[in-house]
Amino acid sequence: MKRIAFFNVKGGVGKTTSAVNIAWLAAQDDTNTILWDLDPQSCASWYMGIADDHPNKSINIFKGKTPIGKLRLHTTQPRLSVIPADLSLRKLEAILADEAKSEQLLQKLTEHLSEQSKLLIFDCAPAYSKLSENLFSNCAVLAIPLLPSPLSLRSYSQLKEFLQRKKRWRKLTLQPFFTMVDRRRKIHNDVIKDATNVIGDDDPIVIPYASEYEKMGIHQAPIHAFAPATQAAKAYELLWERLKARN
Ligand SMILES: Nc1ncnc2c1ncn2[C@@H]1O[C@H](COP(=O)(O)OP(=O)(O)OP(=O)(O)O)[C@@H](O)[C@H]1O
Ligand SMILES: [Mg+2]
Repeated sequence: MKRIAFFNVKGGVGKTTSAVNIAWLAAQDDTNTILWDLDPQSCASWYMGIADDHPNKSINIFKGKTPIGKLRLHTTQPRLSVIPADLSLRKLEAILADEAKSEQLLQKLTEHLSEQSKLLIFDCAPAYSKLSENLFSNCAVLAIPLLPSPLSLRSYSQLKEFLQRKKRWRKLTLQPFFTMVDRRRKIHNDVIKDATNVIGDDDPIVIPYASEYEKMGIHQAPIHAFAPATQAAKAYELLWERLKARN
């Protein structure tokens, strides 16, 4: 089972939008997929149509009180299920800090899922945290949405440097891509053109700035569920192809 985490220490850059759309596309592409929402804001769960009052508290998975299977919910998309988040996850850092071998916790919790799923996608909150370190140790790929700005590239360089700290982290495949790009803006074009050295990709995936993505909030669904023929939808198809090739 491949594991991809959508990560950026910066907030509001398109992690959740991307995780949700890629999970949907993967399932559509015949891949049994689980989307695990690890952000107490629970936006990914919400986009997948899951009511905020689902009865089981997500934190209980980490406390060993509830098996994952009890929380895992099917979606309207065949082959796609979601492990939803809720506010109880705000206590996750304390649990991971207490756990002596916390970096193996995610591995332990998810081992058995490989019997049913080929792909596990994580959406998480924006921070360097015990959870993010857990994800660095347990994922094959970090998908990193970047705004087309110099500060965003600086933050990406800092992340790359941080990931040198552990042998396991150095093996991570990084898949940076740009989000919310407005091609009419010179600064966006310039940053993308000059980014080759930093991100090591002279043909980066570019997700445009488009109101279709914001409409996901109205439809409470990924973009392919309501606007599959748009440029906005096509942009995520290219990202999915790239991630598949990376895997
Ligand atoms: N390409 C895009 N064009 C326009 N709006 C976008 C795009 N991608 C995301 N958005 C909007 O930007 C906001 C932030 O996106 P999203 O929630 O995916 O970011 P995030 O990185 O997960 O945020 P957080 O750090 O809070 O978890 C949302 O309102 C979303 O609808
Ligand atoms: Mg998010």
